[in-house]
Amino acid sequence: MSERKVFVTGATGFLGSHLTHKLISEGRRVIALARGSRGASAETRVREALNTVGPVDLTRLEVCEGDISQPQLGLSEDISRKVATSIDQIWHCAASLSFTDEDRDEIFRMNFGGTKNILALAEQTPTRRLHHVSTAYVAGNRRDLVLETELNVGQTFRNAYEESKCQAEMLIADAHRKGLILPSIYRPSIVIGDSRSGRVTHFHGVYAFIRGLWSALERLRRRMPEGGPVNLPLRVLGAETTTLNFVPIDYVVDGMVEISKQPASIGATYHLANPQATENRIWLPHICRVLSVEGIQLVGENSFLRTPMTKLEALFQKQMAFYYQYLQGEPRFDCRRTLDALKNTGIECPGVTVEFIQRMVGWYVNFLNNARQGTASSSAGPGATQHI
Ligand SMILES: NC(=O)c1ccc[n+]([C@@H]2O[C@H](COP(=O)([O-])OP(=O)(O)OC[C@H]3O[C@@H](n4cnc5c(N)ncnc54)[C@H](OP(=O)(O)O)[C@@H]3O)[C@@H](O)[C@H]2O)c1
Repeated sequence: MSERKVFVTGATGFLGSHLTHKLISEGRRVIALARGSRGASAETRVREALNTVGPVDLTRLEVCEGDISQPQLGLSEDISRKVATSIDQIWHCAASLSFTDEDRDEIFRMNFGGTKNILALAEQTPTRRLHHVSTAYVAGNRRDLVLETELNVGQTFRNAYEESKCQAEMLIADAHRKGLILPSIYRPSIVIGDSRSGRVTHFHGVYAFIRGLWSALERLRRRMPEGGPVNLPLRVLGAETTTLNFVPIDYVVDGMVEISKQPASIGATYHLANPQATENRIWLPHICRVLSVEGIQLVGENSFLRTPMTKLEALFQKQMAFYYQYLQGEPRFDCRRTLDALKNTGIECPGVTVEFIQRMVGWYVNFLNNARQGTASSSAGPGATQHI
């Protein structure tokens, strides 16, 4: 019998491209489901995304053009059957990462509907093995310790993204209870660049925040003499002592792939989060230092009641609306099951030290500076995308 393949969704995205790269590097054959764009076929887009991550044997890659939100993933009856019978596991990474409430229907169509369609495929495969990439933020507005065994404890959500990802997990749990699939669920926290180089290929979340600051500074620098830190009086709505949980992409991907090989992972959920989250008052000043800017401070809502927002503050707050939700606080993610599974494997989550933050921010600021000078860093490659 020919070697079984791995089916991956989301291979043009941040996690999916790194995961596909890792699976191929380990010798697996991968079938990636992806969408084409106006300018490029699905195949070209996946190949570019993988090349951006690094050199890899692309002869081990097949790409099916499809859409997770469509019945049968948008594949013909024939291709869908061929896929189902030729794979031994599915990695479902594709999702809508929109945090805009106006996109609610679309977010649910992708994240809930898409998972339903993936389950239908998983049920037809010989192994019925499904690896589902969720998010630690299915915990929504909880502020306590969230266990890897917990999902829906009556929490509310900050946005439709979190709610849709929670409902998708519930779908999977239900299918598992009915004996239809053998799932594992992975919940990363806020995924950032490579722990060794700081390199990153897609610029979500905290990178959008850094870019917002960088853009504001660019405008100021044009009007100021060269050199020295820029003074940018900007109040950012957020609590000093609440945390953000940053986790590097290499830890997430290496961790997930290692855990997926362990029989005990069937039916289990894992927090691919940093055992030690970083307080806002720690990471923000370091970002400011790398950007060479002074005057940015975290404040509570009262500050804006006392002194109304400046135009710049209002603009920044509008652009960063999504991020403000997370600067108000997050739960603590219990990672004991993940740490146990990774014990003695050499896969460890690095702590967020000063050097680590500087490496991460430094790499991205360098990238932005190069892009401004028209020399968009070839180290990120053409597939690098920027969106919130
Ligand atoms: N990044 C993080 O910090 C983070 C943290 C926790 C959890 N996660 C989870 O990790 C997974 C991957 O996130 P990411 O950061 O890699 O996001 P991303 O870079 O935005 O990638 C999303 C991927 O999903 C694909 N996709 C979206 N809608 C699709 C559709 N209808 N049909 C087929 N493919 C579709 C996208 O394809 P196109 O290129 O065609 O749009 C892209 O490949 C998601 O499930 C997310 O919830 C991410």
